[in-house]
Amino acid sequence: MRKFAVVLFVALGISSLPAQAGVDGAKQFAEQYAKHAQVANPGFKPTAEAGRDFYTKKYERRKDNKEEACASCHTDNPLNKGKHVDTGKPIQPLSPVTNPQRFSDLQKVETKFKKHCNNIIGRDCTPAEKSNYVTYLMSLEAPKK
Ligand code: HEC
Repeated sequence: MRKFAVVLFVALGISSLPAQAGVDGAKQFAEQYAKHAQVANPGFKPTAEAGRDFYTKKYERRKDNKEEACASCHTDNPLNKGKHVDTGKPIQPLSPVTNPQRFSDLQKVETKFKKHCNNIIGRDCTPAEKSNYVTYLMSLEAPKK
């Protein structure tokens, strides 16, 4: 898998692999996606606000024109467990703040982005969208214990 990851990073012009899990790993994803976005738009800076807008924006999904957002399955609060809108299956929290396993595996992250973005928006997400999205997810504050 590591070979695949390296090839992909090279294809994206991304120079280093996330070595950490959780928020630190997510930060590396956000930075690398931002670098990639800056190739086309040198002034690009990811923001949590843009990521939140993207996360909650509703699209007509391709398969049946039902309105769906990332939040439909991952819930309004990505710190919480999600629930699949079609199957009702539980989904572990999407935010690395409450789920350190998120954004630690490049292949998984890229596969999910591609699949979910295509299902909902009808195209892959851009590096800028991915960078904003990850920035939003890692900016959330963990609930007080
Ligand atoms: C129809 C339900 C559904 C919708 C809508 C949805 N997702 Fe997901 N998402 C899932 C499931 C299921 C998983 C995998 C669950 C797991 O790994 O525990 C997942 C996981 C992910 C992951 C993997 C993160 C990681 O490191 O493990 C990313 C990234 C992701 N989704 C992005 C998105 C984006 C972006 C959108 C909106 C464009 C979106 N998802 C909308 C169901 C959904």
